[in-house]
Amino acid sequence: MKLVVDLQDKSYPIYIKAGALQSLAEILYENNLTTELFVITDENVQALYGEKVLTILRKAGLKPTMFSVPAGENSKSLQMADFLYSKLIENRATRKSTILALGGGVVGDLAGFVAATFMRGVKFVQIPTTLLSQVDSSVGGKVGVNHRLGKNLIGAFYQPVFVLIDPDVLQTLPQKERRAGMAEVIKYSFIRDVAFYETLNANLATLLDLGDAKLTESVLARCCSIKANVVEKDEREGGLRAILNFGHTIGHALEALTAYGTFLHGEAILHGMRGAVHLSLLENKTTRNEKTRALSLIDKLDPPSIPKSISIEGVLDAMTNDKKRTTEGQLWVLLREIGKVELARQVNDRNVREAIRFVLDYPG
Ligand SMILES: NC(=O)c1ccc[n+]([C@@H]2O[C@H](COP(=O)([O-])OP(=O)(O)OC[C@H]3O[C@@H](n4cnc5c(N)ncnc54)[C@H](O)[C@@H]3O)[C@@H](O)[C@H]2O)c1
Ligand SMILES: [Zn+2]
Repeated sequence: MKLVVDLQDKSYPIYIKAGALQSLAEILYENNLTTELFVITDENVQALYGEKVLTILRKAGLKPTMFSVPAGENSKSLQMADFLYSKLIENRATRKSTILALGGGVVGDLAGFVAATFMRGVKFVQIPTTLLSQVDSSVGGKVGVNHRLGKNLIGAFYQPVFVLIDPDVLQTLPQKERRAGMAEVIKYSFIRDVAFYETLNANLATLLDLGDAKLTESVLARCCSIKANVVEKDEREGGLRAILNFGHTIGHALEALTAYGTFLHGEAILHGMRGAVHLSLLENKTTRNEKTRALSLIDKLDPPSIPKSISIEGVLDAMTNDKKRTTEGQLWVLLREIGKVELARQVNDRNVREAIRFVLDYPG
């Protein structure tokens, strides 16, 4: 399956297919990316797929070089970017080189940032290997690293030449990571597509088990096309793109409050979506019935418990520090009905507190 992200002169294709990794060399040839290939990965992914990818490329007559960074969020740093610049320079990379990001969102964001900045920008290919990166971070062109004072503060918009998504690699992804990625998947249904919600609701267990390859492929494709569609209309987050942040207002606060060490991103977003849905009801944007339907899917993903040390005040404080907040106030994405959301800045403070209380009371 091939989708196109239509960004005029920066348009690019997304290939989604079980076993797609086997076609990597072919697609590189199609795009004339045949010399000076640098694969950036992390140590986990290297152990699982490094040799395989190198073999696929070498068999096709290509001469790739691979660098790997330690797995984990800490690698998304300027120090690690600097390490990679050094590796590229030592290995005689030039402006004609291509960087291939093989890994999850950490590798994609870091390698993309390096690609955007090395020699003022070299060609870039995304090969996302986690569910989250396949449905979210590899599409949309946001690349970057963290700063010690905050996450994702240093970055760029930089589009890849293509994205190659092979759902087969998810077989090795731990269940916990699959569930966290699935949080973003169900988010797309809430913001854009009620029929997609029905599909997910009916097949969640099969999807988590990767029990139906065709279904997995079509779900990945639906997510990418929703994200692509939103990004096409608003590449640089002037307006519409903000709907992708459904569940992220409270979700980000929970991550920050726990120093990014307790929740996987998607786990925090499950809680954030619970809060957003409850707030939508309190603000009379949605009905009790829609709230129940939304929560039933979210809760099937078993949000983890929330540390008792987290208070309503703490969450409010953390939300105030979020970089997405502007002087106009906190931005909320509220549910009208499943498949339809709206942006809101004017939200009753008491309702916000009540929504946070609802989140912290989980499981009730
Ligand atoms: N650029 C964007 O638009 C965007 C959007 C959402 C998230 N992000 C970023 O993405 C990052 C999170 O991405 P992530 O959840 O993919 O985390 P990750 O890259 O840390 O991957 C999670 C873990 O899974 C391992 N892994 C990767 N692929 C695997 C596979 N196929 N089998 C087994 N293990 C595998 C990794 O080594 C890592 O330990 C965050 O830094 C976040 O800020 C970026
Ligand atoms: Zn997210």
